[in-house]
Amino acid sequence: MNRKFEVVVIGGGIIGCSIAYYLAKEKIDVAVLDSQKVGGKSTSAAAGMLGAHSEYKEFEHLYPFVRSSQLLYKELVHEIKDKSGIDIELKEGGILKLVYSEEEKRALQPILAHSTVEWMTASDVIEKVPVNASIIGAAYLKEDVHVTPTSACNGLSKTAQLNGASIFEYTEVAEIKKQDGHYVIHTAKGEFEACYVVVASGVWSNRFFQQLGLTNQIIPVKGECLAVINEGKPLDHTLFYNQNYIVQRNNNKLVIGATQKWNDWDERPTIGGIEEIIQKAKEMMPSITEMKIDSYWAGFRPMTFDGYPFIGAHPHGDNLFFAAGHQRNGILMAPATGKMIKDMIVGNQVDKTWVQAFQVDRRNKISL
Ligand code: GLY
Repeated sequence: MNRKFEVVVIGGGIIGCSIAYYLAKEKIDVAVLDSQKVGGKSTSAAAGMLGAHSEYKEFEHLYPFVRSSQLLYKELVHEIKDKSGIDIELKEGGILKLVYSEEEKRALQPILAHSTVEWMTASDVIEKVPVNASIIGAAYLKEDVHVTPTSACNGLSKTAQLNGASIFEYTEVAEIKKQDGHYVIHTAKGEFEACYVVVASGVWSNRFFQQLGLTNQIIPVKGECLAVINEGKPLDHTLFYNQNYIVQRNNNKLVIGATQKWNDWDERPTIGGIEEIIQKAKEMMPSITEMKIDSYWAGFRPMTFDGYPFIGAHPHGDNLFFAAGHQRNGILMAPATGKMIKDMIVGNQVDKTWVQAFQVDRRNKISL
């Protein structure tokens, strides 16, 4: 078995798999190491909304980055399907961001100014989806489509593999060490060698920051979700209000999410959390009360001190990169992150605004 690679990516969530995808496409010899199966942790817990507009407040000056990532999915859906046969289940329909008052509508003016977003009156919304009749309307974010995250992650990893990447599942990394000008990655299954290392382990990146002399930290914001069976007409548009949502999967299931519990490392959902999301979902769509429960779960959103991911080189350079901390928007930002890391490794030009916003040692440069 080959254990020497040009690049080793640590973490096989959607971020790590996207990095491998873009590197393999350039014929770069890349391996992904994951302690479990690819896409098995935070990726599998995500709803998969590509919310460049619904999460606009978080990313206003980085809109070009998140928008470029959203647009990359339009290519990926075909590239992945053609090469690997995997359907990432990109579902059109977009998001209806429900609005209950004039004040809420005013707060949405920055996104309503986008040509891709339109205002919809209450009667138009009610005609399309079975929502609470007390709305005054909705911002229709038609470009905020969604994918099924595990399918997207598997599609990226499988396509990367078919383009020459190696994927090592159930291969937990213990330590990364620099030795004689290259990296030795110690794992439970022996050593790997690489010229470049990329840490893309979400909330599990902390020990690598420490090992590599950095004080960066990522904490989990636990999200609890529920899936119910929709026996009625499929929901043509995702419903969104105050960071809660109801998303139609490509089958007969609706995903209802999600709580936001800071620094909660317990992966089990709670009764209180599920109760909270059911209440919020009922306020958006009263008819969910009658729907049967399919499953429930929780996942960790990887949160940084300022809400932006760390994407870039270690402050000492040294062919060492990080791509972690994508909080609520890992699925959305995966393609642009993968492409950015690939560009940095091959020495292509990368947008300076993005480099600065995501740089790994920015802590001292941003006033808290
Ligand atoms: N992006 C949806 C969530 O984090 O719940």
